[in-house]
Amino acid sequence: MGRRVGIFDSGVGGLSVWREIVHQHPTLETCYVADQAHIPYGSRSAAAILEHARGIVRYLADNACSAIVVACNTASAVALRPLRAEFPHLRFVGMEPAVKPAAFSSRAKVIAVLATPATLDGELFAATVDRFAANAQVIRQPCPGLVEQIETGDTEGKVLDPLLHRCLQSALDAHADTIVLACTHYPFARRRIQQIVGPHVQVIDPAPAVARQVGRVVAASPGATAAHEFCTTGSASEFERVARRLLRQPLRARALRWDEGRLREA
Ligand code: DGL
Repeated sequence: MGRRVGIFDSGVGGLSVWREIVHQHPTLETCYVADQAHIPYGSRSAAAILEHARGIVRYLADNACSAIVVACNTASAVALRPLRAEFPHLRFVGMEPAVKPAAFSSRAKVIAVLATPATLDGELFAATVDRFAANAQVIRQPCPGLVEQIETGDTEGKVLDPLLHRCLQSALDAHADTIVLACTHYPFARRRIQQIVGPHVQVIDPAPAVARQVGRVVAASPGATAAHEFCTTGSASEFERVARRLLRQPLRARALRWDEGRLREA
């Protein structure tokens, strides 16, 4: 099994998973694809999300990736199972809403899950709640506008706060003591979320667990040098600007374009 890992999301959100993966596995080679031509995935049909995910996986496989991280809860909810069936030679790691650890550690047995409508409406979410949180009150909270705001790279500003207050109100009203970030964009707003809900509320980002899973799937090769590629179906310069703000490090990106369901160099 090679060391090159493909990682994708609809936009910059998956970088919250990417940073955890490279933190835990500093010698991994990665290729990140942001499908910004189609963002947000969260309000698209399952068929459309699967079609985009399929095109991205094909591109990553053609570019020497043998393991794929679906760094998007929405695409994982909709497409992970069909992708595994369609690409049996690839290893997949997907996002799963961290309902299990949340239900386990919540003392109040009231948890709030922040996610896109497609994730909250999906079978994976329903099954996870049935299986692991039957004894808890689970608040399903879509966060309209939050993905779009994080895509601007401004996670401090005046626009973010009212958005977050709206998203967190039901959780606060219900005295939830645990909040699950079930969209990979949201960890970039984690600091503000924690400030709003207060220190006694636990905020769970599943990225560290996903990165550990990547370590189990991809074999170690000590001494290898890390190399990271970033691609977007949107504007490469805009991706670079926003990623630099979110990750606090510079990176180079290149543009890809969609051509009848296939990704090509722009
Ligand atoms: N970052 C994504 C997720 O985890 C998708 C956001 C979107 O495109 O709606 O759900």
